[in-house]
Amino acid sequence: MKAQLRILVLVLNLGALLLLIAPAAAQTDIYRDASQPIEARIDDLLARMTLEEKIGQMTLVAEDSLDPQAVFDYFIGGVLSGGNDEPNVNTPEGWLEMVTEFQDAALDTRLGIPLIYGIDAVHGHNNVIGATIFPHNIGLGATRNAELVEQIGAATAAEMMATGIYWNYAPALPVVQDVRWGRTYESFGENTALVTELGIAYQRGLQGDPLMVLATPKHYLGDGGTTWGTSPFGASNIDRGDTQIDEAGLRELYLPPYIEAVNSGALSIMVSFSSWNGVPMHAHDYMVNEVLKGELGFMGFVVSDWQGIDLVAPDYYQAVVMSINAGVDMNMVPYEFRQFINTMNRAVENGDISLERIDDAVRRILRAKFAVGLFDRPTGDGATLDVVGSEEHRALARQAVSESLVLLKNEGALPLSADAATIFVAGNAADDIGMQSGGWTISWQGASGDITPGTTIFEAITATAGANTHVVFERLGRFDSFQDASGNPAMADYGIVVVGEEPYAEFEGDNGRLALTRGDLTTIERVRAQSDKLIIIVVSGRPLVITDQLQVADAVVAAWLPGTEGQGVADVLFGATPFTGTLPFTWMRSVDQLPFDFANLPTEGCDAPLFPYGYGLTYENSESEWLDLAETCSAG
Ligand code: GLC
Repeated sequence: MKAQLRILVLVLNLGALLLLIAPAAAQTDIYRDASQPIEARIDDLLARMTLEEKIGQMTLVAEDSLDPQAVFDYFIGGVLSGGNDEPNVNTPEGWLEMVTEFQDAALDTRLGIPLIYGIDAVHGHNNVIGATIFPHNIGLGATRNAELVEQIGAATAAEMMATGIYWNYAPALPVVQDVRWGRTYESFGENTALVTELGIAYQRGLQGDPLMVLATPKHYLGDGGTTWGTSPFGASNIDRGDTQIDEAGLRELYLPPYIEAVNSGALSIMVSFSSWNGVPMHAHDYMVNEVLKGELGFMGFVVSDWQGIDLVAPDYYQAVVMSINAGVDMNMVPYEFRQFINTMNRAVENGDISLERIDDAVRRILRAKFAVGLFDRPTGDGATLDVVGSEEHRALARQAVSESLVLLKNEGALPLSADAATIFVAGNAADDIGMQSGGWTISWQGASGDITPGTTIFEAITATAGANTHVVFERLGRFDSFQDASGNPAMADYGIVVVGEEPYAEFEGDNGRLALTRGDLTTIERVRAQSDKLIIIVVSGRPLVITDQLQVADAVVAAWLPGTEGQGVADVLFGATPFTGTLPFTWMRSVDQLPFDFANLPTEGCDAPLFPYGYGLTYENSESEWLDLAETCSAG
């Protein structure tokens, strides 16, 4: 009996000993245990964190403003690549290596909380050379194809995850009311329902099920409704301006995409640089705390925009206190992170920011990190790097390009005949990957030139034309060296002029004229003189003033910013695929018509727009009263 008792006592002591040790191990396990409920993991981790570790989680820093050691020293919760940030070697491998170095530093901290690495993969994984560059959102808006947009979101997520990045500052959800804004092309259109349908389709595709990548619906709220001239950049700007509308109008026009975004599981939302009736959104307690987090029930975290907090008030301390108390949970600093951290500590010491507020912000950030799987899969393993720029994704982009094209006019010109003898191709955007991709491509502002692998529109036309068709490119349209037997300038069957906007992003693209360049106008004149049929293709981030050119051309196509897969343009020009695109924006006759009063838009007479929202011809139907009106109004 005694022996049995002794064994029992021994076992009990051993158990007690294990319990003594176990709680530490068991408690450590809870937040690291993927089988535990997320809220339990958050509670366990939050209870373990110091104030310094909590404030570190609220700090988002640009990758070229810190090194992995600083991530470790300051417990940094987020690192991002802004539009111009890239690794030493801009390859998918180079991206994975850079992101992994930052993440390893975070994982080495006391509690091993993974950082979240963010990027603007707004039309593909567009910072990465070799990635698939999809049409910008304005082109996707023209497709009206939610299923396609969802597939693009998923393809973008796959290319991001291959490089170890699980946080995208997309989709942009502006309902743009004035196309003079330099971010018009980031929008799916002027119509709330369209933006909601396509924006949430993209979010679903990007997030995946189960959640793999964090979407960031942006920029909350009313970023697309600012008034020309109210921008901090001056009287000829609109970016980051003031949205002047009553609450009912704000809710009706701009809130629906965010209601659906929250209902579709968004766990990060970026607040807008813009203001609502004079109050900066970065410090809008009512719209962020009461409406977004309260009324809409948003349980994720609100991230500031790039130095967005700094713009809230002249005094940085006040700006930080106002923004954090208004509901901003993570500050995209992105440079002076030590200043932000010190300011936060001071604000807590002074009682200007409560510990409850800090805990709420960190809880939201951790909720997103747990939900997206960062604690369980903090880095990429390099196994899928070949998905970046894959043929499958490029085929998807090619389909999107074809479906995004909008046929504005066609008088016996399209489809191009495979039997044509000669096709002249001209224009600044005809043979230029950078021009056809636009901003947010390899660099923030984008750039013309051969910036990443892809197919230009000229290359695509050449590849698709008939075997005996002579396709000639001359950027400025100078084909006078082509002469007929009697020494006169030879006529081509078709002259195709691809006009366009030089790439831009954000306020750099604010433009009060929206005119074609002098060079493009001259090129059009030259090619008109030497072509039986003149086709104008407009590569732009928004409608441009083409009222006069519409009368000169036999066909006009809006191609928006198609990205790397120019073959999608040729597929439609030669009739392999049909025109199905329709306008996501009303097309103005002149800039004097802007901003449109959509509630009272004339539908006849020369005060009417050139083309209405939803307009688009097909090969079967190329007649329209809008073309008749355009001819009448041009005749004066
Ligand atoms: C930019 C943009 C925002 C972007 C952020 C990070 O200024 O406003 O859309 O996500 O900075 O690049």
